[in-house]
Amino acid sequence: MLVLGIESSCDETAAAVVQDGVVIRSNVIASQIKTHAPYGGVVPELASREHLNCIDHVVGSALELAQVDLSRIDGFAVTKGPGLVGSLLVGLSYAKSLAFVTAKPLVGINHIEGHIYSVVFENPGIDYPAIALVVSGGHTSLFLIPEPEKYGVLGRTRDDAAGEAFDKVAKLLGLGYPGGPIIDKLAREGNSEAAELVFSVPRMDSYNLDFSFSGLKTAVLRYVKENQIEPVADGAEPSQSMIDLAASFQGLVIKSLLARLRQAAQRHSPRTIILAGGVACNSALRAAIAAEDFGAPVYWPSPILTTDNAAMIAAAGYPKLARGEDHGLEIAACASLKLENLSLEGYQIPKKARYRL
Ligand code: KG4
Ligand code: ZN
Repeated sequence: MLVLGIESSCDETAAAVVQDGVVIRSNVIASQIKTHAPYGGVVPELASREHLNCIDHVVGSALELAQVDLSRIDGFAVTKGPGLVGSLLVGLSYAKSLAFVTAKPLVGINHIEGHIYSVVFENPGIDYPAIALVVSGGHTSLFLIPEPEKYGVLGRTRDDAAGEAFDKVAKLLGLGYPGGPIIDKLAREGNSEAAELVFSVPRMDSYNLDFSFSGLKTAVLRYVKENQIEPVADGAEPSQSMIDLAASFQGLVIKSLLARLRQAAQRHSPRTIILAGGVACNSALRAAIAAEDFGAPVYWPSPILTTDNAAMIAAAGYPKLARGEDHGLEIAACASLKLENLSLEGYQIPKKARYRL
C-alpha cells in the first residue's frame, strides 16, 4: 500500500511516499529557516505564503523520487493540526484536491501522532504498552500508549515547550534561529555547572508529570542582566561565559525531561520508550537517555525524521487507511488539536495486552 503524506503545519513544506507504513520511498522537505531567521521565529503570514509557493513542487518531487505517478497512490494522509492555521490549510487543501481527483481516501493526522510514528522506520516494531516523550518547538508531552493509537496524557508543559525555550534563549543571547541546534553545538564546549540559574517551577503535586520551562527562560534572562552578558553581535564568537550559560540551560532542560521520563517508566513499566520531536535531535539528551536503563528499549528517529517531515504523517495514516478509514473532504484544520483519546483516571493496563506494530 502506497501512502502519500503531506505536512505543512509550521515552517516546513513536506511530502513523502511511504510503502506499507514502514518503507520510505521518498521524503522531501522544503525548509523555510532562511525566511524566518531574520525575525528570530516563524512569521505565520510568510510561512503560509511559502507553503503555497512550493507545495506543488514538493509533492511533485516526492512522487518523482518514489518513481510512481499519482494514480499508483492508494491513499493520502495530511496533517490537520496542531499548527499555524494558515499553514495547515495549504497542505490540507492540496491533499483534498489530490484525493478528489484520484477518488482515493484521505485521512487527517494529528501532527503529534505523526512525531510518535517517526520511530517506525529505523527501529524494531513497537511493543506496547509504550511511553512517548514528544519534545518539539510547539509541544512537550509525555504519553502512555497502552495499545496502538490509544493516547493517554501523563504530563504536558504548563507554559513553554522545550524547543520554544531553546529558541527563545538563543534569541535573547543573539545566537540565531532555530536555537536548538545552535545551543546543542555550543554547549559541547561549555561547562553545564558554571552558570548557576536560580528559578522556580510552578507547584506540582508529586504524582504530576507536567513540565514547565518558562521560569528557566526567565532565569537565563536575569542571569544575562546580572552578569552583564552582551548578546552576540552578527558573526561574532560567543564568550566562554555565554557558552557556559548555554550548557547550563541545556543541562537543566535535559534534567527535567529525564526526571519525568524516569518516573513515567517506573510507574508504567512500558515495553518501548519513544523519544520524538525536534528537540529529540539534541545530542546531550540522546547521550543522557542512552546512558540510562529505563527497563525498556528507547527508540528515536534519525535527525531528518526527528524534525518535521511527511514520512511520519504517512506512517501515522497507514493503519487508518489500511482499515478503510476515509475522512473525506470535510476535514477541518485545527490549530490547537490535542492528542488524547484515553483518560488515565483509574486506568489499568490489561495484564495480557501485548501488541506489536
Ligand atoms: O518537531 P519540530 O521540527 O517542529 C515542531 O513540531 O515544533 O521541532 C522544532 C524544534 C525547534 O524549537 C528547534 O529549536 C528544536 O526543535 N531543535 C532542537 C535541536 N534540533 C531542533 N532542540 C535542541 N537540540 C537540537 N539539536
Ligand atoms: Zn513537529
